[in-house]
Amino acid sequence: MKILGIVAGRHGGNSEILVKEALLAAQAKGAECKMINLFDYHIEHCTGCESCTMQMGEVAMDPTKKYRGCVLKNKDDMDKIVNEMQTCAGVIIGVPTYDLTPSSLYLKFAQRFLAYELSFRLEIGDVQEDPHTVAGLIAVGGSCHDWQTLTLEAMGATMFTQSVIVVDQMMATRNGRPGNVLLRPEQLERAHKMGENVVEAASTPVEERRWMGDPDQGLCPNCHSGLIFRGEEHWDGLQYPFECAVCGAGGDLVKGEDGKIRFVLAENGLARDRNVNESRALHLKEIVETRIDFMKRQGEIQELKQHYKEVTFPAI
Ligand SMILES: Cc1cc2nc3c(=O)[nH]c(=O)nc-3n(C[C@H](O)[C@H](O)[C@H](O)COP(=O)(O)O)c2cc1C
Repeated sequence: MKILGIVAGRHGGNSEILVKEALLAAQAKGAECKMINLFDYHIEHCTGCESCTMQMGEVAMDPTKKYRGCVLKNKDDMDKIVNEMQTCAGVIIGVPTYDLTPSSLYLKFAQRFLAYELSFRLEIGDVQEDPHTVAGLIAVGGSCHDWQTLTLEAMGATMFTQSVIVVDQMMATRNGRPGNVLLRPEQLERAHKMGENVVEAASTPVEERRWMGDPDQGLCPNCHSGLIFRGEEHWDGLQYPFECAVCGAGGDLVKGEDGKIRFVLAENGLARDRNVNESRALHLKEIVETRIDFMKRQGEIQELKQHYKEVTFPAI
C-alpha cells in the first residue's frame, strides 16, 4: 500500500512534523511511505487557459481525438506529482493556514488538478486503474479555529477533481514558530492516529469506507465541513434551504431536543454531492450549456468586448 505525504509548510515546520508523524504510523502499519514538500518542486500557476476542459469536451464527443493534457505539462513537476498521487492508496496532506485559508503554495498546486481529473483520465485510458485514494487532511495555524475557519474546508474542496475521499482531518492550533507543535503531544498523537486511520480506510473495501475522524467535527454529516450557507437556486432550478459549501449537500438547519443546531440532509440532499462522479458530471452539463450559449452569441460579445478593449488605465 502506497501512502504519499504532501507538505506545503516550511522545511522543519509544524505541517511537516505532523505529516511525518502520520506517515510513521502508516509505515508501522505496513504502508510504503513517501513524502514531498511542495517548496522543493517547480509548480506553475494555472493560467486559466481552459485548454484542458475544452479538450476534455472534444474528446468526450469524439473519442478518436487525443487528450494532450495540461499545456504546462512539460514545464514543471506537476505531471510527476499527480501521476504518483493517482497510484497511491492514501495521501496525507499538511498545509499551513495563511489568512484563514490554505497557503498559496498549496492552492497553486491543487488548482492544477483540473487538467488531471481522475474520472476523465480513467475514461480515456490515461490512467489504467482507479486507485480509490483516501485522504487525511491536516491544517496548521498559529491560532485557534476562529483564525483557521477556511483551511480544512478549502483543502477538502480541492479533493473532488482527484476523486479522493477524505476520511479524516485535523486542525492543529496555536503553532506559530516552526517546531511549536512539538510542545503539543495531543496533536502529535492525533496525527499518528490519522496515519493509522488512513491505512485502515485504504484497507477497507471501497463501499464500506466511512468517516474516521471526530464524529462531531463540523456541521455537514456528509463531509464534516463547518461551512453551511443559505441555498440559492441552481442553474437547473434545484434549491435547498441550506447547503454545505464544500461537498454541496443540501438540507435544513434544525434545532434538536438537546438544543443543538444540526444540518439535516433533505431526501434528495446528496443529489449534488461533489464526491460522486455522476453528480459532478451534472456540473459539467452546466458548464457545457453556459459555453454553448456563449458560442452562439459571439457576434454580440465581440461588439461589446471592443469597448472594454479600448478602455485603458495606467498600471503601476
Ligand atoms: C502570511 C502568513 C499568514 C498567516 N495567517 C494565519 C492565520 O490566518 N491563522 C493562523 O492560525 N495562523 C496564521 N499564520 C501562522 C502559520 O499558520 C503558522 O506559523 C504555521 O505553523 C505555519 O506552518 P509551518 O510551520 O508548517 O510552515 C500565518 C503565517 C503567515 C506566514
